[in-house]
Amino acid sequence: MTANHVDNQTDPVPPVPHASGGPALGGHADWPANRGRRFFTAQDADPHALDGERIAVIGYGHLGRPFALNLRDSLSPRASVLTVGNVPDEYAGQARVDGFTVLSIGQAVASADVVLILLPDEVIPEVFVADIAPSLSPGAAIVFASGYNLAYGLIAPVPEIDVLLLAPRMAGENARQRFLHSEGFFAYVSVEQDASGKAWRRLLGLAGAVGILQAGAIELDARREADLDLFIEQTMGALVGLSIMTAFTVGVDAGIPPEAMVMEMYMSQEMEMVFRSFREEGFYRASSVHGPTALYGGFVRTMQFLPLDLGGLFRQVLAEIQTGQFARQFQAERKAGYPMLRQAEALSSGDPASQPIGRAETSVRTMLKSS
Ligand code: NAI
Repeated sequence: MTANHVDNQTDPVPPVPHASGGPALGGHADWPANRGRRFFTAQDADPHALDGERIAVIGYGHLGRPFALNLRDSLSPRASVLTVGNVPDEYAGQARVDGFTVLSIGQAVASADVVLILLPDEVIPEVFVADIAPSLSPGAAIVFASGYNLAYGLIAPVPEIDVLLLAPRMAGENARQRFLHSEGFFAYVSVEQDASGKAWRRLLGLAGAVGILQAGAIELDARREADLDLFIEQTMGALVGLSIMTAFTVGVDAGIPPEAMVMEMYMSQEMEMVFRSFREEGFYRASSVHGPTALYGGFVRTMQFLPLDLGGLFRQVLAEIQTGQFARQFQAERKAGYPMLRQAEALSSGDPASQPIGRAETSVRTMLKSS
């Protein structure tokens, strides 16, 4: 394996505790701090790693469909067999339309050596117990696209199987488009359990075949991947959304046209360029190109907001994630029929004309189209 290291530390991959009787897979307290620094690219994967393997994609949704299509385009049909496992619903129908053989989840798992579990995170525990675990063959591999279930002890794989993490940092549809344009997309990868002795070979073979290694993959265990993912979406993500809604309301109340507000915040693409310059120039250096007024104003207001102690709130959020409190809360939300999630969905999928922000966006789009 020729993986580059992000720094000079070259510790071997540490042994992974088994789920049965031991700590939850990926438990982090006892893991070396330097784990999660290796960076893998296309040269680290054997293009024949999956030859002779039967692969099942369980779930044909936002990520399942792009991954299944990418795998089919990458793998030789003579060398690997690819099936989709799904409950009978519209996703199964789409998989058939796309030309896949669709089996029940149990049948697909039973007939596979490598099983990609691409179901909603909070659904996985019950499907795993009912349909996946009883059908797995010894020596098979299960692959997750998120560390959530492994991190918070929601499933307990037996020691006789490989447990792999392949967690993309790209929305499913973009993963397909970037694959088609040979651009790839980043992901975190880890071997959580190597029962077959070929877990890394399988994992990197899959990462190459779905298009990840064209961009690259960083090694990060499931626990840290899940903590990181939830932490950023529940702190930075939540505050970006709250800032946009608050600035819109305050600005419009003070007489700034709603169209100008959304143009300023994101419709003009200026903010996209700001994030792009974080990536290309660096977070601090990027601020210097906005001129002294923006730099001075941003600096003094940041100082003014510091007493809000966001750090304290962020630490509290992270603690609730790390102790598994958030995962328990989300599983309870599912059991209760998703009352909060339904409210969030109503907000995000409602008629744009029913929201002042939506109306302002529509009117800017109309303006831009007619220009
Ligand atoms: P999704 O919500 O699109 O999943 C839909 C699929 O789940 C369908 O095949 C449907 O038949 C099946 N399904 C739903 N409820 C079911 C149930 N009760 N029993 C059996 N099957 C059921 O899920 P998505 O977003 O594709 O996520 C899959 C995994 O990929 C998750 O672990 C997620 O964290 C991860 N992921 C998703 C990304 C995305 O772009 N959506 C990006 C990166 C990771």
